[in-house]
Amino acid sequence: MGGTTMKTDHVRIFDTTLRDGEQCPGASMNLRQKLEVARQLEKLGVDIIEAGFPCISDGDFESVSSIARTVKSCVIAGLARCVENDIRQAAAAVAAAGERGRIHTFLATSPLHREFKLHKTKEEVLDLAVRHVKLACSLVKDVEFSAEDASRTEWDFLAQVVEAVIDAGATTVNIPDTVGYSTPTEFANLITYLRKNVSNIERAIISVHCHNDIGLAVANSLAAVGAGARQVEGAINGIGERAGNAALEEIIMALRLRPDSFGFEKDARVLTVNTRELVKTSRTVSRMSGLAVQRSKAIVGENAFAHSSGIHQHGILSKRETYEVLDPAEVGWGETELPLTKHSGRAAVKARLEKLGHVLSEEELAQVFERFKHIGDSKKFVYDDDLSALVNDSLDTHHGKWKMVMIQFTAGSNTKPTATVTLEKEGRPYTDCAIGNGPVNACFKAIDRITRTRGELVDYAVRSTTAGQDALGEVSVKVIFGEGSETCSRPVSGKGAASDVIEASARAYLNAVNRSIMLSE
Ligand code: KIV
Ligand code: ZN
Repeated sequence: MGGTTMKTDHVRIFDTTLRDGEQCPGASMNLRQKLEVARQLEKLGVDIIEAGFPCISDGDFESVSSIARTVKSCVIAGLARCVENDIRQAAAAVAAAGERGRIHTFLATSPLHREFKLHKTKEEVLDLAVRHVKLACSLVKDVEFSAEDASRTEWDFLAQVVEAVIDAGATTVNIPDTVGYSTPTEFANLITYLRKNVSNIERAIISVHCHNDIGLAVANSLAAVGAGARQVEGAINGIGERAGNAALEEIIMALRLRPDSFGFEKDARVLTVNTRELVKTSRTVSRMSGLAVQRSKAIVGENAFAHSSGIHQHGILSKRETYEVLDPAEVGWGETELPLTKHSGRAAVKARLEKLGHVLSEEELAQVFERFKHIGDSKKFVYDDDLSALVNDSLDTHHGKWKMVMIQFTAGSNTKPTATVTLEKEGRPYTDCAIGNGPVNACFKAIDRITRTRGELVDYAVRSTTAGQDALGEVSVKVIFGEGSETCSRPVSGKGAASDVIEASARAYLNAVNRSIMLSE
């Protein structure tokens, strides 16, 4: 990477957690969760938030436009194929961001995609790209073009497309390694080639977007920065399609720690992000998406700064730098405040929730506070992560049609697992019971009987919100509901939290039932 020292420059961080990241199987987020992630990304200080793919569904359109209305300091991008309707919808969705609205339009350029997906010649691809970039430029000032599968495209044709879209008005040209095929040296060479062979390249920012299929997404992105790319796209915690996108927290810290390795001065500040928000951002994304972070994950994993061997511990105690290249505080470790207890009042809970980025109405606060008091009775301390889990659980469930009132279950080695559940709808209680192949299954069946649904569980994950035996269990489920009920037939996700994982499971399932009813209305 290294190379000759170039003048200090700004590397833009383009976050696609809410678009490409959300395409990760099992990671769908609802509007409130997306807004929470977007607010936290704004605090982190990323330059661009890709908020979604507006033409995909009304829900996606709504989340992009809500984020465009809410976030005040980042550029908000909406994705669009080179299709007129996509582009017009993307423009409408980002309109509330005004000058900060960006249309990100893409078209595949590689021979494989041209022949087997698009059924188009090179000339047709070129023409489509130019026409749609021009259309996008007539609607917004800031237009990014992505040559999908760029890394497997003939380099001379790629250069031709890049030059043509810049002439058509694109201000950022993105070079994706869509299937994670490239390697650091090759990818850096491709960027160098484009810088040399695209005559108008200085009129646009070169961006890169790398996938992690062979584990090289971060290395490829950094190699490209070393070769002159000035925008990096990725997702927090590296979530995304298949093996994911480049992990932004790793790219950010590599550029903060070693700018000299990527062509900048030794102490150059090439990013404007606030690295102290990284751990919080990682946790927010993990909680909102339901995707746990691997313990040994660089920067944000729980073990990232844990030293277990005696030699290392001794070294760290004498001088931290012996075994740590980063100060954990610099990425936001150790900034948690004192936990709340059952004696904490409503004002303290409200203040802590606001600090965590949860902006709630009085009615919503009352719902969360009720659960907080309940949990506080069985748990000595209520940590920030517990509180956020309660927000997810209480609000999503209570906004639905059915509310959990009571749950009882029995299970053991020689008994049939049974569950009795009482739910409430429009002030009326409904109780039913069921037998299942385990207590969780029995609860789901009892809920099915009351709500007249028939759900098939396609994904189930449980995690503890904090360490310790009294931690809350947070359950994420994905359920497909049968035909003929008032629910919708697509997989629907749900989340629930409680001290007991069976109750948390039942809450998550009920959350999915409520969301499904809402989606089918
Ligand atoms: O991976 C990819 O090529 C993409 C584009 C839409 C940028 O996600
Ligand atoms: Zn992608």
